[in-house]
Amino acid sequence: MKTIFKFLGMLIAAAILFGAGYLVSKKQKSNVPPPPTVNYFSGAGTKNASGLQQTEERNVVEVKQGQSIQEAVNNAKSGDLIRVYPGTYKETIYIDKDNIYLQGVVLEGEWPILEGEKKRNDAILYSGNNMVIENFKIMNYKGNGIMGQAGNNFIIRNNYIIDTGVYGIFPEFGTNGLISHNILSGIEDAAIYVGMCDNIDVLYNEVFKSVAGIEIENSRHALVEGNYVHDNTGGILAFITPGLPIKTCFDVIIRNNFIINNNLENFGEPGSIVASLPRGTGIIIMAADEVTIENNIITGNENAGIVMTDLNFIAHITKDPESEPNPDRIVILDNIMSNNGSNPIDELKAARIAYMVTAKGIDIVAVGGGTGSCIRDKSKYVTIGLDNYSQCQSPGTANVLSYMLEKPAPPRDTKTEDRGRLIYYGICSGCHSYNLRMIGPPTMTIQALYKDNPQGIADYIAKPVHKRTDFPEMPPQDYLSEEKRLEVAKYMLSIDK
Ligand code: HEC
Repeated sequence: MKTIFKFLGMLIAAAILFGAGYLVSKKQKSNVPPPPTVNYFSGAGTKNASGLQQTEERNVVEVKQGQSIQEAVNNAKSGDLIRVYPGTYKETIYIDKDNIYLQGVVLEGEWPILEGEKKRNDAILYSGNNMVIENFKIMNYKGNGIMGQAGNNFIIRNNYIIDTGVYGIFPEFGTNGLISHNILSGIEDAAIYVGMCDNIDVLYNEVFKSVAGIEIENSRHALVEGNYVHDNTGGILAFITPGLPIKTCFDVIIRNNFIINNNLENFGEPGSIVASLPRGTGIIIMAADEVTIENNIITGNENAGIVMTDLNFIAHITKDPESEPNPDRIVILDNIMSNNGSNPIDELKAARIAYMVTAKGIDIVAVGGGTGSCIRDKSKYVTIGLDNYSQCQSPGTANVLSYMLEKPAPPRDTKTEDRGRLIYYGICSGCHSYNLRMIGPPTMTIQALYKDNPQGIADYIAKPVHKRTDFPEMPPQDYLSEEKRLEVAKYMLSIDK
């Protein structure tokens, strides 16, 4: 609590400073908003710990139309604030250093636009710790909008991400992050994809016309709150995907969201797991544990409002002996649900008949196993398969204000941590599971092809050739040095799960 008050205090101070700065700049007849003045990292006021430095100490670099953002990044020092002015920037930005604040400057409604022209793969990739990325319009990329590769402590906010391919905002293997006030649409896999992360808040985003709206996958301590998730194939997902190096997903709070009309035809890459996501489900919990669903408004999802399932939900999924396949200790508190389940998938239609459900639509479905789950006032909803759910005694999650850490997480140290592993976790796991087809083929298959040939992998990933007609092209990883490519190749060949 105390921390939050401090945080609020900082916000108010920021608001006052910001206002003052604005007046000054007005007097000077400049309409450029002033640089941010307060470190937003962590509520604990640890301004000068390993988090971002304050502006007073921060060097400001300006990038204007016609200049290159990447060049500014290359020249930047730790702690720099890079301000990008309105204009169109046709580039991929790769940030491989710590403490960079990348900020778009929005002037009279004009934004800095990152334009992929459907030929560039990624808009922004970062592998550094303590990053802020805000105020960009990112459009027409083929791979990722913003991808974090094993960086800790990040803020990604106030961005538009439109038609950027596979993943919109995708922190992979990061601890302590905030994803807030972004607007995303037209993403072929997950629009917001929190993969193998810890302590993440996903707040007040709007996500629509994507295959999966918000996906919390193989992650722990995630708060998904206040988002408007509509017209996707599936709304909010808490998932275990088997075959990834981090095996669990638990302690997720999904509350105060609007989850509306997620009935979009699935346009995921055929054959990938996301392509088998049935349309029409508001919230899907697959094999994740300790998920609390509270105070959401869930309406108009034609398959069902909430589905809890084991790993069998996705057809032909390969099991992972280290991932427990059932959703356990799920807590469903008060939610407003209406008009869900009007046009369920065939399996659910069959279940309706088997359970002799006469009500019009189904709100909540549990299939497969799982223990220790509860629901408050089950009789308010139309449910199937919740026979072993008890009446919830939980007082709710009001005491949890944030899952971000009080102090920034220590930066990932590439000297003590094996770099090949870090790169595999932070990049390759986004598309390669050990034994399961994701966007790319399973690592097992790749191992069989490249047995004693790490150099072959290192060369391939710098300049992939399109081999499999039933897979998309793999985006080149040529921003990684030769040395790093070889390290990750060796790691990829060494794993057995
Ligand atoms: C955005 C998704 C994506 C990411 C990230 C990714 N890959 Fe791939 N990868 C693919 C796809 C798709 C294919 C299949 C391409 C094809 O067959 O044309 C593939 C194929 C491969 C192959 C098979 C090459 C062959 O000769 O058949 C190797 C090796 C490989 N990836 C290694 C890696 C490594 C190492 C990383 C991490 C540094 C990585 N990939 C990251 C999507 C990805």
